[in-house]
Amino acid sequence: MKKLFPVVIVGAMLFLAGCGASSSPAPSSSSGTPSASEKQPTIGVAIYKFDDTFMTGVRNAISTAAQGKATVDIVDGQNSQPTQNDKIDLFLNKKVNALAINPVDLTAAGVIIDKAKAANTPVVFFNREPMASDMQKWDKVYYVGAKAEESGIMQGQILVDYWKAHPEMDKNKDGTMDVVILTGEPGHPDAIARTKFSVQAIQDAGIKVNILAQDTAMWDRSKAQDKMAAFLGAQGEKIEAVLGNNDDMALGAIEALKAKGYFANNKFMPVVGVDATAPGLQALKDGTLLGTVLNDAKNQGTATLNLAVALSKGLTPSKDNAGYEITDGKYVWVPYKKILKANMADAQ
Ligand code: GAL
Repeated sequence: MKKLFPVVIVGAMLFLAGCGASSSPAPSSSSGTPSASEKQPTIGVAIYKFDDTFMTGVRNAISTAAQGKATVDIVDGQNSQPTQNDKIDLFLNKKVNALAINPVDLTAAGVIIDKAKAANTPVVFFNREPMASDMQKWDKVYYVGAKAEESGIMQGQILVDYWKAHPEMDKNKDGTMDVVILTGEPGHPDAIARTKFSVQAIQDAGIKVNILAQDTAMWDRSKAQDKMAAFLGAQGEKIEAVLGNNDDMALGAIEALKAKGYFANNKFMPVVGVDATAPGLQALKDGTLLGTVLNDAKNQGTATLNLAVALSKGLTPSKDNAGYEITDGKYVWVPYKKILKANMADAQ
């Protein structure tokens, strides 16, 4: 026993030294065991432009989801497909393990897939859905997004409920809802579907709709403010409701309306957006924005990252390894949710 004593001491000292090492930087592979960070895949993430409120939410969600799972390199396409293509080429040259792409121009997806396939680098597209024919080009191509049709229907339903509860909304008492619509980027599937299905949902509820004016404000708040000021100049008191394809444009419209005396002295205009961004929720709280639809940035970002990680490990993404149901072998659909002041907490 006496002879064993020094061995026990030395053993205990080694054990304590080992415990101490856990708070210092992870050992390098030269120790024989690769550290956790060295085993993490690198994902090249390209966003169509950083200067977009909703996409900033998705970008932050991707970074958060990557913690402890992957190294993400996130680049700004600055709303230029040639700029984004150059950055994707750099990712492929650097041999990232997977790509996550929010394309600037949907029609560029085919070329991006061809390049990625040649480099055997899987791709997860998100937010802007490539054409089905492009999606079929390779089995390592996936898409994460939301069904824009749903968000349009929810926007329409918010206006229907308000119309029924507030007969004064029909200012000229003609039984027709006179609306103006601020649309997102021309050709963007979300802009097309939200415009179409919001109007259709109102009509499906048995209410006629008259579109007094409709124009693109490119998802942008200040452009929407200018467009709404022009609508007010031309249509004035005829306008009974405003549909914005997203919250930023709805908020721009609210600024233009405020300049014309709305949201004070009982002068109200029902304005509806999509996204449930932080400024959108603030406007709901203030009582200027009537309603919005949660476009779930957190789950869209997390699903994108999880799929990219599974693919970079050579796995076929599934609910088990990525945490999200895969539809038609290639798609993750994240649901929307109607948000009013009463259920704001659901979006926070
Ligand atoms: C939409 C979102 C918009 C804008 C757009 C960019 O889904 O509602 O606010 O971010 O994506 O593609």
